Amino acid sequence: MPAASREFSVHDLANRLAALSDFGSAGAGVTRLAYDPAWLEAHRWLRDEADRLGLDATSDWAGNLFFHSPDIDPDTSEPVLLVGSHLDSVVGGGRFDGAFGVVSGLLTAASLQGQPGVPIVGFATAEEEDSRFHGGMMGARSLLGLVSPDELDAVRDADGVSWAEALAVACAEGCAAPMPSGLPPRAPRIPLARSLELHVEQGPTLEAEGLALGIVTRVAGYRRWRARFDGEARHSGTTPMGHRKDALAAAAELVLAVESLARERGEPAVGTAGRIEAEPGLFNVVPGRCEVWLELRHSESRALDVLETELGRRAAGVAERRGLALTFERVSTQEPSALDATLGDAARDVAAELGVTSCRMVSGAAHDTMVFARSGVPSLLLFVPSQGGISHSPDEYTDAEQLFAGHRVGLELCRRLSARSAT
Ligand code: HGY
Ligand code: MN
Ligand code: MN
Repeated sequence: MPAASREFSVHDLANRLAALSDFGSAGAGVTRLAYDPAWLEAHRWLRDEADRLGLDATSDWAGNLFFHSPDIDPDTSEPVLLVGSHLDSVVGGGRFDGAFGVVSGLLTAASLQGQPGVPIVGFATAEEEDSRFHGGMMGARSLLGLVSPDELDAVRDADGVSWAEALAVACAEGCAAPMPSGLPPRAPRIPLARSLELHVEQGPTLEAEGLALGIVTRVAGYRRWRARFDGEARHSGTTPMGHRKDALAAAAELVLAVESLARERGEPAVGTAGRIEAEPGLFNVVPGRCEVWLELRHSESRALDVLETELGRRAAGVAERRGLALTFERVSTQEPSALDATLGDAARDVAAELGVTSCRMVSGAAHDTMVFARSGVPSLLLFVPSQGGISHSPDEYTDAEQLFAGHRVGLELCRRLSARSAT
């Protein structure tokens, strides 16, 4: 029987994080997209690591991983306290985004294994970053039973590989369980009492304030669109400027429109055009078609409504003025989400007792926790500082002591919540 409160050091955390970041780091930064070879290797390594720590690792049909005591059967367990983060990364991402929370959750589950009370289960969601597939928090949604059957074929990567096809590979590799009855379940695989996610801040606030821990009260939402302009591909040397229907020039106006829209609205609005692709893409042809990916974020749904209406109006205005056809399609959305205030208070108290300085804050980045919270699970997200506020970049960095301070707060919070809920 493992010890009820096994201690881990800063090196235990840092070494495992370094090992995990090796999966997917062939180029600059970490590229570990859902179900790709690096993700499969990382998944395998995590399961082995759980085994070395005396835990079982159970995958659900989507490849979400649960780290738990062998005494727990996820299919029949009483509600658990889930602690972790996501396994996937963006293209060229950092070593800490998602990975920190996954390793912290794994060590927390191992530390508190055997403690009486609500079971503590570590987790790693399969997909959070929207980087290979654009299904929107596919890991957390599948974990919660919020996936509709048609998504499995409809959600596809840039090469046309469907979610179902990628899952078949993961399943064959032992990294996902067969789907019960062939359809996505409509309930969580494991019942959830509460959820906790530890994460790097990915922004500049904690570092600027000289604080060690961010207790997140609210997570900003986003809306994402694909806009396509259809104009006329014509000879670039012979088509006078007044006779053009240049789809790329129209898209360029829209790129600037999303930027100025967010600037005009002011903080916390942010607007980004993350991708643009013109056809036929040559020096000597006026582009006849151009697609641009747009995103707006804000912490209030009503503000997002206003921003969305205005962006649509400006896009239509560009198309009309230039005489082009416009297709404006909303691809995904995550609504702003409030997190659990009682859990926030408990985290503040634990941090104070451990001498870890903290503040309340709003997250500009999206997280699995917002999906858990909106589904009614009392949920909390804790941040540790990010050097220079940099993330979604190979330059993302948080020193090991800062990571460990956050981990200690998460661990102690889980210990107390588990015991308190048991009585
Ligand atoms: O896009 C986000 O905010 C998150 O990093 N997935
Ligand atoms: Mn991220
Ligand atoms: Mn993340």
